[in-house]
Amino acid sequence: MRILAESGDLQDRKTNLMAVGIFEQNPKVGRSISGLDPKIGNIVADALATRDFSGSLNQVQLFYSHGEITPKRVLMVGLGKKSELELDSVRQAAGRVALTVKNLSVREFSSSLLGEGSSHSPDVLAQTMVEGTMLALYGFQKFKNKPSDHISSIEKLTIMVRKKSLLTRARKGALDGKHIAEAVCLSRDLANTPGNRMTPTRLAEECRKLSRLHRLNLKILGNNQLIKLGMGGILGVARGSSESPKLIILEYRGASESSCPPIALVGKGITFDAGGISLKPSGKMEEMKFDKSGAASVIAATMAAATLKLKVNLVCIVPATENLPGGSAQKPGDIIRHYGGKTSEVLNTDAEGRLILGDGIAYSLEYKPQAIIDLATLTGACVVALGAVTAGLFSNHDRLVRRIEKSAKATSERVWRLPVGDEYLDLIKSEAADMRNVFSSSPGGPAGAIIAAMYLREFVGDIPWAHLDIAGTAWTKSDSIERTYIPPGATGYGVRLLIHLLKGWSVDLGDES
Ligand code: BES
Ligand code: ZN
Ligand code: ZN
Repeated sequence: MRILAESGDLQDRKTNLMAVGIFEQNPKVGRSISGLDPKIGNIVADALATRDFSGSLNQVQLFYSHGEITPKRVLMVGLGKKSELELDSVRQAAGRVALTVKNLSVREFSSSLLGEGSSHSPDVLAQTMVEGTMLALYGFQKFKNKPSDHISSIEKLTIMVRKKSLLTRARKGALDGKHIAEAVCLSRDLANTPGNRMTPTRLAEECRKLSRLHRLNLKILGNNQLIKLGMGGILGVARGSSESPKLIILEYRGASESSCPPIALVGKGITFDAGGISLKPSGKMEEMKFDKSGAASVIAATMAAATLKLKVNLVCIVPATENLPGGSAQKPGDIIRHYGGKTSEVLNTDAEGRLILGDGIAYSLEYKPQAIIDLATLTGACVVALGAVTAGLFSNHDRLVRRIEKSAKATSERVWRLPVGDEYLDLIKSEAADMRNVFSSSPGGPAGAIIAAMYLREFVGDIPWAHLDIAGTAWTKSDSIERTYIPPGATGYGVRLLIHLLKGWSVDLGDES
């Protein structure tokens, strides 16, 4: 889809459909609507007067213009109260418009800059609008022979900015929005692709293609190298599968000082999680193709960092393997040795994410990172605790938490901090090894998401670290009225949050007050 920004009167624009963002207002507002040219203002005023339309968030109303104005159609979309406008309302409203336009089979449309006149700057508004539009139109259609009605045929969107002086900023914002949305869609594509099509080898191949495109350094470690390095966590999990495991390492250098220590992004890359010998029940097991969502999002965020030329150095580390119950699979009670030497008693082979991430995080220390951030669909317990809209956040570093919380708020990718601390160490204590991977081999039990985070914490030493448990947020089954821009399937959760975080990563964590 091509996205442009222009300035001029909405009523004179030659377009199939003009979407117009309207703040919620009094039906007796009169005929002059602030920020609108008179003819479109009249249409809106009539709709408000009849109370057919109030401007409440995500409400839409379509009009045909009968030649009275140049656009063939006018689509009003409600933005809610002006004083309460959050950026996510713009994202949602843009998504609602895009879905409505898609259903009309219109290939080209224009839209006012949704939220113009509010306290948000035009570049951020344009960025957010483009995100909402592109993310709402996303569909996973790779394996369909016949394109279904779910696929969008929209080819062009023109964002209409009232003030010509703001056009440059709106254009820059729109372009950023496009890059960000493309990264989210990349994450969704990687995560949506089923286990037979996205094996660890294929995931590594995808990374190879992407790294060429974005000129990133890439290392892929295969079975033999993993054995040489002593990556017992990844190898242990991979034993039940005939697919060979990979450790994928991508490097991006964008900091003005190339010696600046990188931020390590580590993502759980279980391309399918059957549980191993601690086999999962078959109900909904197909959802475990999404167990690579953490990997998908850190890979996509790294690509976006390159496209957006963010001024940070990154090392993106993805341990990738299947977790299957083959004849050579690791068994409950087995003891493994992680990269770096720590030993662990594997009491439940379905708690495999922490095993591969232990190696991945330990390996990231070789890069002397200034911070480690990992994303993982780690525990069902986190879904029980926080549901589908909020990820669990665990960290050893308050300032890093504050930054992440700020980015979460700005992007509406919600997080909620849960504790880690020495008082929980008992829960991962083992008689036979340095630690164990679960508290109890039977399901349930206390503090499941915290235990998993405690396990990861064992590997980070003193480095500022944050772990996002995205088990609840990584995919969704339902269309949500509010979250118009999140269709069913993989959500790409975390990509927007990480990009926001990295964009604002100017000062050292240590230097910040
Ligand atoms: N990939 C799952 C976690 C998961 C479960 C994500 C449901 C999303 C939805 C993970 O590998 C797992 O199986 N965890 C176990 C841990 C348990 C054995 C301690 C879980 O959460 O049940
Ligand atoms: Zn598992
Ligand atoms: Zn898993």
